[in-house]
Amino acid sequence: YVNAIGTHNEFVLCMNNIIPFVNTSGYVFTHDMPMYSSLVSSEHNPRCSNLTVFRRPVGVVTPKNKWEIRAAIICSQEQGLQVRVRSGGHDYEGLSYLCKSPFVIIDMRNLRSISIDIKQETAWVQSGATLGELYYSIAQTSQTHGFPAGICPSVGVGGHFSGGGFGTMVRKYGLAADNVIDAYLVDATGRFLDRESMGEDLFWAIRGGGGASFGVIVSWKIKLVRVPPKVTVFNVHKNMDQHTVDIIHNWQYEAHKMKNELFIRLLIQYVNDDNNTSVQALFNSLFLGELKDLIPLMNEKFPQLGLNAEDCIEMSWIESVLYFAGLKGAPELLLGNKTDPYVSYFKAKSDFVTKPIPPHVFVRIQEKFYQQKLIFMIMDPYGGRMSEISESHIPFPHREGNLYNIQYLVKWEVNGVQASKDHIHWLKELYKYMEPYVSKHPRSAYLNYRDLDIGTNTHENNTSYMEAKVWGEKYFKGNFKRLTKVKSRVDPDNFFRNEQSIPLHQN
Ligand code: FDA
Repeated sequence: YVNAIGTHNEFVLCMNNIIPFVNTSGYVFTHDMPMYSSLVSSEHNPRCSNLTVFRRPVGVVTPKNKWEIRAAIICSQEQGLQVRVRSGGHDYEGLSYLCKSPFVIIDMRNLRSISIDIKQETAWVQSGATLGELYYSIAQTSQTHGFPAGICPSVGVGGHFSGGGFGTMVRKYGLAADNVIDAYLVDATGRFLDRESMGEDLFWAIRGGGGASFGVIVSWKIKLVRVPPKVTVFNVHKNMDQHTVDIIHNWQYEAHKMKNELFIRLLIQYVNDDNNTSVQALFNSLFLGELKDLIPLMNEKFPQLGLNAEDCIEMSWIESVLYFAGLKGAPELLLGNKTDPYVSYFKAKSDFVTKPIPPHVFVRIQEKFYQQKLIFMIMDPYGGRMSEISESHIPFPHREGNLYNIQYLVKWEVNGVQASKDHIHWLKELYKYMEPYVSKHPRSAYLNYRDLDIGTNTHENNTSYMEAKVWGEKYFKGNFKRLTKVKSRVDPDNFFRNEQSIPLHQN
């Protein structure tokens, strides 16, 4: 970190002037205050904050209401500071808390209320809430409602919804962002806008285009979805051998065509159990229905997996949330993000697959995993509801024609420049190897699995549309142009910017 000196006093003074009746020491933290260090270092991927090009923030603001967000925006502009907005802090490249220029973090941790209207089947959720808190609150109110968002309970609503967001119900109900029906945002001029006052273009942009380019989203109104009182889950492990490669081959043809209620995720991973090393394929599934209906379905559509009733467990939807998160115990476990088990050094990349990958590729992947050890490939089937929604409905364009999404993820425990270099090199090798077998022109990527390797804004504040297309069309395809037009209208001075923010259209 490089210290930004001299501006924190002016920033605090400005905040005091705008909201004179609230003591700033309760929500503005500068480097001379004890809370500052813990607020600055609370991130999920230490790989990012180890990079020395980043500064320490001039201050961290933890607003309790929209007025404090507004004040932070206005004072940052007055002081020539940038802002980074952090909800759950899971950004894969740390863009919610790292910046190369003097900046302020707006941390949404105190804005995490959730209010559910079960009659209307809707909820208002603030951006600082986690997915776990949202799922828990829904289940406290109704056993037959849920919400289709990501699997990890500590992920923040703010970043997740604004980047798309998918999980075990993606085939039945689409993305989290597909199920957002209203939102409150504070824009670059400090105005509070809801769906009606922000207009349909901006409301479109923040559902998948990344909130960080457009403003600070305070809260979201979502449509809850119906889940049966009993769902069924299974987890089938197979050692990677020729037979498993054949099963994977079949999975590629069937998983996206199954009934929308059935989601079968495939995870390939290197396992080291008491020095017995192996590469395993894990078929991890949620069926929105009972076991008696699942078994005949699997026998008919995917008999190769050889699923037995003993492999399956019936449970409530909220129990399935814990099951997928790898948590054992009461639903209250979804509320704690203090001891987050997911903190580790990691780097990820993503792909979309539009044609089944030939079996020999999986044989080669297995060999690569033995050499490189801590790599995971997580494959989430699409189809179902995802294919019914048009590519331009929201900025997330990866719809019909995509069989599944791949996330490549490499993790390591040891800090150090060499460890990072080695692991990232392995990941890049695997990504390069996969090129012929995944989507092309462009080779697509998922914004919420952010990857700065696919391209960044080349100039801090005036990257041209043509330059940014390199990465922008990978995330957004044809929607990128519309995003730049919305950006030009709502933030013409490009105040909300970062390495992968939407540039202005006219540049
Ligand atoms: P964070 O706070 O870091 O924000 C991410 C981005 O959104 C940043 O650019 C930030 O500035 C911006 N932002 C955040 N809050 C904002 C606000 N209120 N207004 C405007 N901009 C805002 N994804 C998925 O689809 N399915 C999954 O199952 C998972 N699982 C998963 C597990 C783990 C362990 C990790 C680390 C990540 C995932 N993800 C995922 C990816 C996740 O969806 C993605 O990282 C989200 O952007 C995280 O949102 P946070 O609010 O936690 O991040």
